[in-house]
Amino acid sequence: MPTKNCQLHHSKGSDKESYVSSLLAKMTLQEKIGQMSQLNNDAEKLDESIQKGLVGSVINEVDVIAINRLQKIAIQESRLGIPLLIGRDVIHGFNTIFPIPLGQAASWSSDIVELCAKIAAIESSNNGVNWTFAPMIDISRDPRWGRIAESLGEDPYLCSTLGTAMVKGFQGNNLSDSSSIAACAKHFAGYGASESGRDYNTTNIPENELRNVYLPPFKAVADAGISTFMASFSDLNGIPATGNKWLLNDILRTEWRYSGPVVSDWESIPQLVTHGFCADKESATFEACDAGVDMEMASDNYAQHLISLIQNDKISIEQIDTMVSRILKLKFDLGLFYSSFTESPSSTVHLNDFHLSHAKQAATKSCVLLKNNKQTLPLSKNTIDTLAVIGPLADDGYEQLGTWAFDGKASDSITCLSAIKDYVKDSVDVKFSIGMETSRSNNDDGFDEAINIASAANIAIMILGEEAILSGEAHCRSNINLPGYQEELINAIYETGTPIVLVIMAGRPITLQPILPKVDAVLFAWHPGTMGGPAITELLFGEECPSGKLPVTFPRAVGQIPLYYGQKNTGRPPSEETFVDINTIKTKAPQTSLGMTSTHLDTHYSPLFPFGFGLSYTQFDYKNIKVSEYCVPMGKSLKVEATITNTGDFDAEEIVQLYIRDLVGSVTRPVKELKGFKRIYLAAGQSETVIFVIHTDELAFYDRQMKFKTEPGLFNVWIGGNSDTELKTEFEVFCTEHDEKI
Ligand code: GLC
Repeated sequence: MPTKNCQLHHSKGSDKESYVSSLLAKMTLQEKIGQMSQLNNDAEKLDESIQKGLVGSVINEVDVIAINRLQKIAIQESRLGIPLLIGRDVIHGFNTIFPIPLGQAASWSSDIVELCAKIAAIESSNNGVNWTFAPMIDISRDPRWGRIAESLGEDPYLCSTLGTAMVKGFQGNNLSDSSSIAACAKHFAGYGASESGRDYNTTNIPENELRNVYLPPFKAVADAGISTFMASFSDLNGIPATGNKWLLNDILRTEWRYSGPVVSDWESIPQLVTHGFCADKESATFEACDAGVDMEMASDNYAQHLISLIQNDKISIEQIDTMVSRILKLKFDLGLFYSSFTESPSSTVHLNDFHLSHAKQAATKSCVLLKNNKQTLPLSKNTIDTLAVIGPLADDGYEQLGTWAFDGKASDSITCLSAIKDYVKDSVDVKFSIGMETSRSNNDDGFDEAINIASAANIAIMILGEEAILSGEAHCRSNINLPGYQEELINAIYETGTPIVLVIMAGRPITLQPILPKVDAVLFAWHPGTMGGPAITELLFGEECPSGKLPVTFPRAVGQIPLYYGQKNTGRPPSEETFVDINTIKTKAPQTSLGMTSTHLDTHYSPLFPFGFGLSYTQFDYKNIKVSEYCVPMGKSLKVEATITNTGDFDAEEIVQLYIRDLVGSVTRPVKELKGFKRIYLAAGQSETVIFVIHTDELAFYDRQMKFKTEPGLFNVWIGGNSDTELKTEFEVFCTEHDEKI
């Protein structure tokens, strides 16, 4: 670990409050506003601005020599020598790239996610980065939205749990450790509800839904000690988050008592004018500052307009001092006043064996087996003579990294093709055909070669999906099928009669229904990162057993969206009894009342694959669910257990999930809510009784009066391997006389 040089000899134990307040007292108004400004590393006159004390942070610089140079200007040439925050989107790795966050979420493992973040912090801090804009914890229920790739999925409990793990990984036990970096909760709040899955679009979220679904992960990471928040671009119920005082002050500061700094998103302050929320940039500056955005990212409205707002008593100097203090305290917590230079990165840090082995482990645990007909998988190199590897993502080290991987290099990746060749060595003849130039190619020019090698092979491994450009910020799709002619390519290979193992790399759920009957097995790998090739290979050949579970629902058709497991029951819930597929009615269909329940005429109401779904090479049997007591006094806990047996031939891991349903609430409640999960290992034939403990406080929700509390009544509880589980029992929460008085 690089030791940062000491340049300011402050005793580490000096009291933060007194240090910051004494520094603040020395600062001019210009210097205070300077701390509230974050400039991009290519900003004009950056050195001069830093020298004048007009820059609190620089974003997007990752070269250690350049960073040390900027820090030296700030510390040794500016009047007060205040060091810089160096921010970067270290979203799922720095040089070692891990699966995209949605993929990491499919591991359902806090340990894996935390270590990914820890390694990312080690590598990025080794270059002088001390602030990342992660975790992105926007609840995402619309796979048309490109940023679902950066999220931890559709569920508040899973997102809260794994988001907290990421914070611990990035920040470590002590923010001033040289390998710790400040984390950032983004995008506060409700961004994932962007209408039609179009990025930056309007969000209309009733307060009850906001509090019960979208805010919990932010509250969880705030309670976990995350260092910073980022205000979202999005218009929240008519008031853009970046200018939303109810959100940034009443909720974040008053209710949650959060004290860390809030940074805007990229130019989201001047965008308040574009929203039509402010008439000009001065009023945008006022609204953002008054709402509680402490630092402006990339644009210069604070620098341009804050002084006049203060001179005209629109913003008080006390407000400015409070905001600047938050920034200075973060720098103090990071130890930047004590040491902020970084020695040149040691070569043993980046992409070292341990980092790469964890990248493989994370990718292995993130892959989700969606189909495995007739136990096609795992393959055996002893029974295959010729293997066809086909597809535009089979040998592309860049595309497998996914979105937000700017500091990862394609040349460091190990692709599926190279890993497969390395694995089978001379025992199998591996033929490769890209089949299509890109995942978006709209022609069959490369099909003949692919057909030829498939025809001569025992099995075809097709590695398809989305290039990275189809995923991430501003990369939304109105259709979420396999892009280009990939479905046609699958059909062409299907016609050869050679069995197909389909591996998909993508940044979102894909509507696979059209091709599912044509393939024998499907392994969903997300964008798996640097070590995607070895991870996928070891899974395909049975060196590892798939254990990932979906953190997001896979719809049958894009028209079903939004479709998520925690839906409300409605007054006319769908059911098999009432669903009528209009396509099965061949005759003329008079205008009669069909079904009269909440379904579509042309698509079954269920998902293609439900939240929490994932197959294994073995099978798990769930039985004997029971509760420790049926009647649970408010304020107490109950145990829920079930026995899981590995009834197959493979030793394997299973992610056991616990769901509840509050059958009657003062506001309607979801038909299922995840409230616990455990990753267990069972040898073939082994059984284990898994016990969950639930406290009645964990059943609380925001009611009509926005009071957060648990209501007495009947609850269903399930334990299973996905959200469709039917292994269920029930319990009742009751109030004691004492509770009744509350
Ligand atoms: C982007 C994103 C945000 C990111 C920031 C800095 O526009 O919305 O998530 O952290 O700008 O790159």
